[in-house]
Amino acid sequence: VSVVLVVGGGGRENAIAWKLSRSPGVSKLVVAPGNPGFAPAWERWPVALGDGRPAFEALARRARAEGVTLAVIGPDNALADGIADVFEEAGVPTFGPRAAAARIEASKAFAKDVMAKAGVPTARFQTVRSASEAERFLGEVEWGTGWVVKADGLALGKGVRVCQTRQEAIQAARELVAISGSLVIEERLQGQELSWLAFCDGERAALLEPARDYKRLLEGDEGPNTGGMGAFSPVPGITPELGDRALREIFLPTLKELKSRGAEFRGVLYAGLMVDFSGPHPRLNVLEFNARFGDPETQVLLPRMEGDLLEWCRACASGDLSRLPSRVPFSRDAAVVVIGAAPGYPESPEKGIHLERLEAALRGNVAPSGHAGEKPAYFCAGVGENAGAWVSAGGRVFGAMGYGATLESARTQAYARLDQAAFARMQGRRDIAADIGGARG
Ligand code: AMP
Ligand code: GLY
Repeated sequence: VSVVLVVGGGGRENAIAWKLSRSPGVSKLVVAPGNPGFAPAWERWPVALGDGRPAFEALARRARAEGVTLAVIGPDNALADGIADVFEEAGVPTFGPRAAAARIEASKAFAKDVMAKAGVPTARFQTVRSASEAERFLGEVEWGTGWVVKADGLALGKGVRVCQTRQEAIQAARELVAISGSLVIEERLQGQELSWLAFCDGERAALLEPARDYKRLLEGDEGPNTGGMGAFSPVPGITPELGDRALREIFLPTLKELKSRGAEFRGVLYAGLMVDFSGPHPRLNVLEFNARFGDPETQVLLPRMEGDLLEWCRACASGDLSRLPSRVPFSRDAAVVVIGAAPGYPESPEKGIHLERLEAALRGNVAPSGHAGEKPAYFCAGVGENAGAWVSAGGRVFGAMGYGATLESARTQAYARLDQAAFARMQGRRDIAADIGGARG
């Protein structure tokens, strides 16, 4: 018997818990903290993950006392703050890297250094500490095709500007220096972005199929960066040969380099790639690494994944993937997810908006998450409760998932479900998985 604990409470964790709930080996599923939109069959334990170590220690004690046989960690912050270290030290087997390995996401400088040592292709970059230093550097640098100026540290994500000209880059540097004392100036890469994830046991990697994510708030890739407004999988044009190269050029050397630094990576490693198809052979470059499942990518990857997620997580946690296939088996079907976000997202999402249509759809009979044998229609993220009714409690409120034989049919279903569960002043992009043709990948 396995008592499995999923840590986190967003759409990603809803998808992870749903997939684990279909595993014959899972006798009891617990989520901490989960949210009121998760399947009622899953036990919910309260936890304030933002409190860091003391919260992790209390959770690990409870997990140990109640016989948790595997903890699956969702959120990046908790990993960076050492939740896997705390759990493993308490004797709870854990899927997710320790803090030393999660640095590959938490520190851009560390990630760039690992990539340089491992020979992993990535954009050239320079760190600068003032607008005048940025101006001097941009005046001398020879990289040709534009620059990306990024505020380092806490503002990262919000503070990214993609610039065509030196003048634009200098202007961006002036503005971003105000947010963060230190800037990273990167070579601008061309191509298609791709989220490619792999299960890793410290040494070996098994690729999942890739997904595409939409990071900008508005249609046509306008507006501010967000956590992701939608995703689809499979991605047309991405071949298995490209996967072999991603393993050889990116995942395996990165794992080896981390291991040599005493930072074995066990969990899911997520490479944010830029794929350039303009030459005779596609070129792969890493934009960033994440030390966890992507959100919303996981909401389209796990519905397509065949087989038993528990087995994969256990094998990674115990450091031995050798008995599982070298690729994670996937259905040929397509999945599309569109996010319903609160007004004000990403700056200051409005809380307390009633979600009666989402609640009706999920509590009614529309393939509620957690029912075996069906694909879920919704993954709940920023869902809270007020006087017994569901209300918005975060930026991304829910993901509406569509599934079918083609991307086109999956997309149609995802949008029908989004509309069915819409709430007042909901934000959502209408162009997720549009203009990619109806073909399978
Ligand atoms: P980041 O927060 O570093 O993941 O960057 C956010 C987004 O900016 C990425 O998803 C890309 O769309 C874009 N971006 C970041 N770095 C580059 C780069 N070197 N070249 C082109 N686009 C980039
Ligand atoms: N969707 C991007 C991420 O999970 O980081």
